[in-house]
Amino acid sequence: MASEKASSAYTYVDHKFDVVIVGAGGAGLRATLGMAEQGLKTACITKVFPTRSHTVAAQGGIAASLRNMGPDHWQWHLYDTVKGSDWLGDVDAMEYLTREAPAAVYELEHYGVPFSRTEEGKIYQRPFGGHMQNFGDGPPVQRTCAAADRTGHAILHTLYGQSLRNNAQFFIEYFALDLIMDDDGTCIGVVAWNLDDGTIHRFSAKMVVLATGGYGRAYFSATSAHTCTGDGGGMVARAGLPLQDMEFVQFHPTGIYGAGCLITEGARGEGGYLVNSEGERFMERYAPSAKDLASRDVVSRCMTMEIREGRGVGKLKDHIYLHLDHLDPAVLHERLPGISESAKIFAGVDVTREPIPVLPTVHYNMGGIPTNYWGEVLNPTPKAPDRIQPGLMAVGEAGCASVHGANRLGSNSLIDLVVFGRAAAIKAGQVVDRNAAIPSLNMASVDKIMDRFDQLRHANGSTPTAVLRERMQRAMQEDAAVFRTQDTLEQGCKRISKIWGELKDIKVFDRSMIWNSDLVETLELENLMANAICTVYGAEARKESRGAHAREDFDKRDDKNWRKHTLSWVDANGKVTLGYRAVHTEPQLAYEDGGIDPARIAPKARVY
Ligand code: FUM
Repeated sequence: MASEKASSAYTYVDHKFDVVIVGAGGAGLRATLGMAEQGLKTACITKVFPTRSHTVAAQGGIAASLRNMGPDHWQWHLYDTVKGSDWLGDVDAMEYLTREAPAAVYELEHYGVPFSRTEEGKIYQRPFGGHMQNFGDGPPVQRTCAAADRTGHAILHTLYGQSLRNNAQFFIEYFALDLIMDDDGTCIGVVAWNLDDGTIHRFSAKMVVLATGGYGRAYFSATSAHTCTGDGGGMVARAGLPLQDMEFVQFHPTGIYGAGCLITEGARGEGGYLVNSEGERFMERYAPSAKDLASRDVVSRCMTMEIREGRGVGKLKDHIYLHLDHLDPAVLHERLPGISESAKIFAGVDVTREPIPVLPTVHYNMGGIPTNYWGEVLNPTPKAPDRIQPGLMAVGEAGCASVHGANRLGSNSLIDLVVFGRAAAIKAGQVVDRNAAIPSLNMASVDKIMDRFDQLRHANGSTPTAVLRERMQRAMQEDAAVFRTQDTLEQGCKRISKIWGELKDIKVFDRSMIWNSDLVETLELENLMANAICTVYGAEARKESRGAHAREDFDKRDDKNWRKHTLSWVDANGKVTLGYRAVHTEPQLAYEDGGIDPARIAPKARVY
């Protein structure tokens, strides 16, 4: 129980909603909109202004087999996604994603997303890595629907406007502290801190949806915003629920060297290419068919090998060049205006004349909170691997449906956000009983949340949050990198466990309740640590190479022993327990009914 002093030191405001969504990125807003449209009393809590959520940084586009620029089929998209996942994704979820993708994009168009257009006025689509025609035989397919190179920005603004229009209630600049759990293990709400006036808000709800994004900031260099701190994963771990497939961390091939800002894969989709210090277009050697448009785990590894073998560019030979200077400046201006500006600001490069210095940079977490393809959170047991956790959903990068398996294809993230945000809304419309009473607060759970908050607020150790955070980020960057070995991973586990122990010695300097960024960053650090520790322990245990998890000591995929999802539970002392659950290998739709031929998606060597 919270000490009387701790809980009585705060001003509380109570709310009751049918559904509460935590996070206002693409997935959170799509879920919010879908739930509000159905007349559910809907709240969306977000620590940043909705249109500043990290989806705003999504550049290149959103994948859907619209066929606006040439032949395509949802089954080709499914095949590419299965292959991209290195056969770790759940086939039923991937099928749902790729079949629903066109409808989800047209819905966005009708909501008002200002897509770029073809001459005939159709949605413009560009090639993206790993998306091919003819079940992978090629050539690259133009499947990625784009609003110039600001697609996420366009989607966020549209979904926010539509959510307001449907009377969703927003709680902006509120930091979600933890899930309120009932004694029987049902999630019945969430506690959040209003950063602007210091009040504590207790939200009771029939359904909580976590849409809190990824945890890229567990690493030192990431394309992710500083707000990407895995808050949902942290809350779920503290509630005693597992995370899934956390060892799979995506490095995007083209982060700007030094700054880490994203240069969209759309740049290569529009004809850009990578060269080494010898001026060689080395991707032709590694991936003769897809070349620079191979899947991004493949491209990131090839770049790393070029650098290791002494063919990196620059004074330190530690990065690679991305050329766009051969492209028509009018194309750059029309289709890639955002990255032209980023290259100027962050690399001092005029893309019409010079190459951009780039380096593989942490970009996306394939792992997250396990869910089914309706966004319902899973709390698996060995006997019931798909057991549903009542009262809780997760969507977007925070969740793991799992459609990306061991590696996500570019532009499959934005479509994941809207397809599964929408699916969660459909499911909530079915399972949330509008007439039932909204659960009352469980004070024991609330007190526990406030105790933790109060302890952190008054933490008076000797290690400033920023110091410990940097230790974590460096350990993750060095020991859970593009290439991994038993030695680096064991070292990573030791380092991260030691840092977990050092959380006890944290020092928070600011004790105030209003705009206390020191405390926010400390809460975020605890969330990051829960994600980070599951990442290194899961990676150490997985003795194979698959997708983004590339082990030099186990350099082959091992389907017999490792085609399974990792589950990881972390307790308050930082003890990680691992378990596994089976991959869903069966499509939903039978072949005879127009589904994919199962032979097409049977595991095989993954070459581009
Ligand atoms: O390269 C990009 O535009 C990133 C897209 C994605 O991660 O889906």
